[in-house]
Amino acid sequence: MRIYSRIIGTGSYLPEKRLTNADLAAELAQQGVETSDDWIVERTGIRARHFAADNQGCSDLATEAARKALNAAGLAASDIDLIIVGTSTPDMVFPSVATMVQHKLGTAGCPAFDVQAVCSGFIYALTIADAMIQTGSAKRALVIGAEIFSRILDFKDRTTCVLFGDGAGAVILEASDQPGILATDLHADGKYKDILCVPGHVNRGGILGDPVLKMDGQAVFKLAVGVLEETARASLAKANLTDADIDWLIPHQANIRIMQSTAKKLKMSPDKVVVTVDQHGNTSAASIPLALDTAVRDGRIQRGQTLMLEGVGGGFTWGSVLLRY
Ligand code: UT7
Repeated sequence: MRIYSRIIGTGSYLPEKRLTNADLAAELAQQGVETSDDWIVERTGIRARHFAADNQGCSDLATEAARKALNAAGLAASDIDLIIVGTSTPDMVFPSVATMVQHKLGTAGCPAFDVQAVCSGFIYALTIADAMIQTGSAKRALVIGAEIFSRILDFKDRTTCVLFGDGAGAVILEASDQPGILATDLHADGKYKDILCVPGHVNRGGILGDPVLKMDGQAVFKLAVGVLEETARASLAKANLTDADIDWLIPHQANIRIMQSTAKKLKMSPDKVVVTVDQHGNTSAASIPLALDTAVRDGRIQRGQTLMLEGVGGGFTWGSVLLRY
């Protein structure tokens, strides 16, 4: 009998500090950087983002989301036997955010590690957790996407700093004989590393290279639209389903135009796409679990429905997870 991974709880967390486009535009204007609510909304669909407080680390955001997911599942942290965090903005170079979350949740002993696949990080983490559950090496996994991109933004570069925000989302996966994750599909192509990267790194006690996000937005846009359709179709084919079977599309929340064009290619009506990018901007690995938790809690997503989760980001990395909720 096949073992499936089922989502039995979701949670998310956005830091308290919220900046609307107008708030951010006013702050940037003080530094001579010009932008506007109109430009940001028209090009991206973003209306606001949240920024972490100075004393918050990625593990704090991740732990808040994890607590809510545990509550939703009716479990204690000690019930979890695997923790995976998708992040590119860890508290430290090492140890991992996952081990910090484990300790903050007051538990110990189970394997805990981070996955670095930038905006595809949650899809990668979910796929690994699913594989470990299917092989019997885990029974209840805590899978988190958490980021503090505000720490790696160049607030003099208006082409990137208006796009990103901070946040975290989490799910609890449990082994089950009932359908849960139906198919997964992961990819990467390292030749595109320069179109979305943070080139700086720690070197002999200093920082070597520029430690802020660089992006060729148009190149990323074009690649994203193509691979998001391909990976969705690959997951559907593996599960012997078609695009007509998808109840909800939950794509990486980067840009409303990318999401709409993916939905169109999958012949889905725009109102079947879960959109939260307007409320928190691009939160990289956190964006998919943030959107998922929002639509679970507001009642749009119902048990038994078929969900297509898909991510794309730096690396270049991309992938999808097709599941029965
Ligand atoms: O999470 C990983 C995935 N990342 C993404 O999915 C991002 C993908 N890319 C995008 O979403 C879009 O390419 C952007 C939103 C980044 C940019 O949109 P665009 O329609 O490709 O704009 P553009 O780069 O062609 O810029 C158009 C104009 C330029 O001015 P000129 O040269 O036409 O005079 C920019 O200088 O908009 C200007 N501009 C801005 N104006 C006001 C760029 N940024 C801003 C800004 N405010 N913040």
